[in-house]
Amino acid sequence: MKINAILLAAGHGLRMNSELPKVLIPVAGKPMLWHSLQAVAQVTTEKPVVIIGHQADLVRNFVHEQADCILQEQQLGTGHAVQQAKNFLLGKTDLILVTYADMPLLSSETLEKLVETQIANEGPISLLTIISDDPRGFGRILRKEDGYVQAIVEEAVATPDQLQIKELNVGAYCFNANWLWRALDKVRVSPKGEFFLTDTISIAVQDGLTVKPVVLSDLNETIGVNTRIHLSEAESAMRDRINRMHMLAGVTLIDPGTTYIDAGISIGKDSTIWPNTFLRGNTQVGRNSEIGPGAIITDTKIGDRCKILLSVLEGSILEEDVDMGPYAHLRKGTHLGSGVHMGNFGEVKDSTLGEGTKMGHFSYIGNANIGSNVNIGAGTITCNYDGENKHETQIEDDAFIGSDTMLVAPLKVGKRSRTGAGAVVTKDVQDDTLVVGMPARAIHKLEKKKNE
Ligand code: UD1
Ligand code: CA
Repeated sequence: MKINAILLAAGHGLRMNSELPKVLIPVAGKPMLWHSLQAVAQVTTEKPVVIIGHQADLVRNFVHEQADCILQEQQLGTGHAVQQAKNFLLGKTDLILVTYADMPLLSSETLEKLVETQIANEGPISLLTIISDDPRGFGRILRKEDGYVQAIVEEAVATPDQLQIKELNVGAYCFNANWLWRALDKVRVSPKGEFFLTDTISIAVQDGLTVKPVVLSDLNETIGVNTRIHLSEAESAMRDRINRMHMLAGVTLIDPGTTYIDAGISIGKDSTIWPNTFLRGNTQVGRNSEIGPGAIITDTKIGDRCKILLSVLEGSILEEDVDMGPYAHLRKGTHLGSGVHMGNFGEVKDSTLGEGTKMGHFSYIGNANIGSNVNIGAGTITCNYDGENKHETQIEDDAFIGSDTMLVAPLKVGKRSRTGAGAVVTKDVQDDTLVVGMPARAIHKLEKKKNE
């Protein structure tokens, strides 16, 4: 059986007061539309269709290969929106899920139930409902005596009695595709001037066909985002869901209430996340690592057994057993080898630090390639910028950089060499050499250690 989905994403979202189209506004770090696409991908067999309209190009760029986009030039209502996909999908699918791309919490488990209900339904529609005291402007569900759905009445046209109804239309439907295309042709324009998708329900009922409800119990799933207030509700419900998922998968969260993990992030077993920690974007954490308190980590891959305390990390890679902080800052393009130690007030940008290298206190390393087991003394700076260009620094294995060394790039410091405290190094340093002073000059050749 072929199952496809249509996501409606053409509307303005005026009440968000945003320059962005509503469906691209993020929840837990990912656009609302991303969440909808994820949810439908688990239950459909075909590439989904997204109906776009308002700021269509932006939405199309985001969707890219994940779905086929169809333009609804004028937003004439949800029924009209679905109809735009008719020519494209006609004869290509058996069932069609339709939902709105501003309900980021709607889960794939729920959509699965909806599809299963429709597979067992001889009639052409199944739809999600919820029972709630807060109507939120949703359509009201009218039931027939046999318990099946009779109609959906939109709030704008409901009678005072109908407004009292507590069962609401969530906005997720599973249709028999062939029937849907015929029914949409019969939908008449509403007093509001729109073609309502919800009018297909009464069309089915008039033909004596069954519309089955699936009553959702988790109110959070139906949070539809129309304002920034709803957005914050969606954000906190999503955070809660993500945090629970990680805890059940073997990650310790000391205080889930102050732990902010974006959607789509992986964390290995037995890692511990301490309070006030943010894991954002495309971040991955290995096993047995300790992150936080107070870590802000974006687009960074962290290996096993790392310890990150009170630090900011962006666009970096950390191998296993790295420890850092408090107050370390890794910027884009940093790669720390296994066992690297970074203490307080260090900044690294666009640089590699080899295995076992240590940088304990107050240093800046930029555009540098540093070998293994190098000791970078307190206050060491790579002077990588001459006001116009960035230059490279290379420090080879086992070098020892004395406290407060200025490394004026471009520069190379050879293997096992040492710089004295306060050296200003402007010229390349050969292997096994001690340099001191300002500018640093060679004093003598170092003797090799006995065991080498
Ligand atoms: C809709 C339902 C209502 C339900 C509610 C749940 C209809 C007629 N009503 O009402 O029963 O309780 O959702 O949230 O369907 N859109 C388009 N093109 C259009 C119009 C809308 O793509 O021409 C998209 C919007 O971007 C939005 C979604 O469809 O994502 C829903 O449209 P909206 O106008 O917000 O419908 P509601 O009045 O909320
Ligand atoms: Ca809406």
